[in-house]
Amino acid sequence: MSPAAAAAAAAAAAAVAAASSRLSPPHLRISPSVSPSILASSSAPRRVRLPPGPRRGAAAAAAAGGGAAAGGPARVLLEVRDLKAVVKESGKELLHGVDLTINEGEVHAIMGRNGSGKSTLSKVLVGHPDYEVTGGTVLFKGESLLEKEPEERSLAGLFMSFQTPIEIPGVSNYDFLLMALNARREKQGLPALGPIEFYPYLSSKVTALKMDPKFLDRNVNEGFSGGEKKRNEILQLAVLEADLAILDEIDSGLDVDALEDVANTVNGLLKPGNSILMITHYQRLLDYIKPTFVHIMEEGKIVRTGDISLAKQLEKGGYKAISGVS
Ligand SMILES: Nc1ncnc2c1ncn2[C@@H]1O[C@H](COP(=O)(O)OP(=O)(O)O)[C@@H](O)[C@H]1O
Ligand SMILES: [Mg+2]
Repeated sequence: MSPAAAAAAAAAAAAVAAASSRLSPPHLRISPSVSPSILASSSAPRRVRLPPGPRRGAAAAAAAGGGAAAGGPARVLLEVRDLKAVVKESGKELLHGVDLTINEGEVHAIMGRNGSGKSTLSKVLVGHPDYEVTGGTVLFKGESLLEKEPEERSLAGLFMSFQTPIEIPGVSNYDFLLMALNARREKQGLPALGPIEFYPYLSSKVTALKMDPKFLDRNVNEGFSGGEKKRNEILQLAVLEADLAILDEIDSGLDVDALEDVANTVNGLLKPGNSILMITHYQRLLDYIKPTFVHIMEEGKIVRTGDISLAKQLEKGGYKAISGVS
């Protein structure tokens, strides 16, 4: 990889959650790159100590409404209070006072009509440069999120899967994922993984997503179909094991088989300590990833919160069927 491409990848890796226009070169260590195809043919990989793996069953516990790590009270992961935000360029207010609390281990779904502000909310949370926060507070793991740069939010464990994932020419998926993971491990005080140690870790995730390993050699998202990009986003999430994953319409453009693979991977990532915020138009996704809470967003505010029955009501009768929504 050329130094320029490496710098671009390092910046992108540290800012998975940031908009491409905002990427600034962070001070990251870049590991030497090794082609995954070379690794695939190398002798038996060493076992490495990685962050604790996902525990199945947490999703079910969360879906049952528990939301707490086994044996303890639920801890607040994200607390959004009266959040107001405008489009930076025009000053037009899009978020008119959003309240949302997500505890560790919970899965939240936000539904709402087109244009109700769902993507805006997720982009504001990750620090997208198009928007300016004009009121309210956001605490993530007890710390104010709004003062942090997008890169810092990502490194702190916030992940967002974009509706339109960015392409990074000249940087292989493998190098990108390794750098992203090492940036996060450095933040967690863990030693960096070398490319050979990384391979078995990555390989298991690629298999779970039923992705062709050839995608690891290709440049990040370059020439990927819509569905391939979505799988790749979830691969990034699986590698980073973020504390809070914001998934904006991961179901769009996926056929049923792909949706099932993606949902299985997401469910496998659920642990008592982490959470998911998913945005969707369709109840279909919620059949695969069971939400603890369903919220309805309308004109830049969350107007109703309930359980899965709210989504079912919505599917049957549309937004009119839900009282409190005009
Ligand atoms: N950067 C922007 N500049 C101008 N208008 C925007 C911008 N981002 C979002 N909007 C507008 O804000 C409203 C909410 O958009 P969005 O959050 O994308 O809705 P949703 O994801 O719920 O469909 C829409 O009317 C949209 O056109
Ligand atoms: Mg949207």
